[in-house]
Amino acid sequence: MTDTEQDILINAARTSLAQAERTAILTGAGVSAESGVPTFRGAGGLWRQYRPEDLATPEAFARDPKLVWEWYDWRRQRIAQAAPNPAHRALAQWESRKMGFTLITQNVDGLHERAGSLRVLKLHGDIWEVRCLRCGTTSRDERVPLPVLPPHCTCGGLLRPGVVWFGEMLPEDALQAAWRAAERAQVFLVVGTSALVYPASELPRVARNQGACVIEVNPAITALSSAAHIRLRGQAGALLPRLLDFS
Ligand code: OAD
Repeated sequence: MTDTEQDILINAARTSLAQAERTAILTGAGVSAESGVPTFRGAGGLWRQYRPEDLATPEAFARDPKLVWEWYDWRRQRIAQAAPNPAHRALAQWESRKMGFTLITQNVDGLHERAGSLRVLKLHGDIWEVRCLRCGTTSRDERVPLPVLPPHCTCGGLLRPGVVWFGEMLPEDALQAAWRAAERAQVFLVVGTSALVYPASELPRVARNQGACVIEVNPAITALSSAAHIRLRGQAGALLPRLLDFS
């Protein structure tokens, strides 16, 4: 694609976004890639180095909580060193200026909130939360590194990361709100996800079936690309500030 063709697509996407009264955005690991947070698939991706069944399932945690926690502690340290990038900031600014805006993320890194996003539907939980397996209490713990692995609750129970693992249900409230936003959206913007993990991957298709214009921002072709009306090839940090600046 030439630069001129890409500019035409960007302008078409800008117009759709500016005119829409209800917009939903789904972000994935790619939105944080330029902040230095590794993605899961693709070059340098976490699932190229590690097996999800060893580190991101309830069974793995039951087998070896210390190993699982060492991996999460390492990820928390990487994320703590990262700062929100222009893509996170563009989305946060947009939320403050636009009604009918729903931000849905599969990311657990908290970078949307650190950029200033106030309402984020977190489908896969939050890496800065911990949940007690004995008393069920969820709390925030932002210490890096954690002083003792695996960490324990004040009640003595084992704490687990507040994230969704493979084979687990997504938080019901966030998923329902995301589904509703997809059904009502006039424009659905998908940023930096390989769109391979269900049910998040279904949301853009739900929106499309209800008549929404689906716009994809990703440097690569994904499982969703053929269903997108506008495909913008490039990095989120470069494209989102251009797409969302219609002051
Ligand atoms: P993936 O690692 O599967 O996909 C990341 C996507 O980001 C790829 O399509 C890349 O091409 C794209 N990408 C890379 N750099 C980018 C950039 N600068 N700008 C825009 N896009 C870029 O990550 P997710 O789709 O988020 O779940 O993965 C979904 C879920 O799978 C994760 O939430 C996690 C994982 O297993 C759980 O842990 C439950």
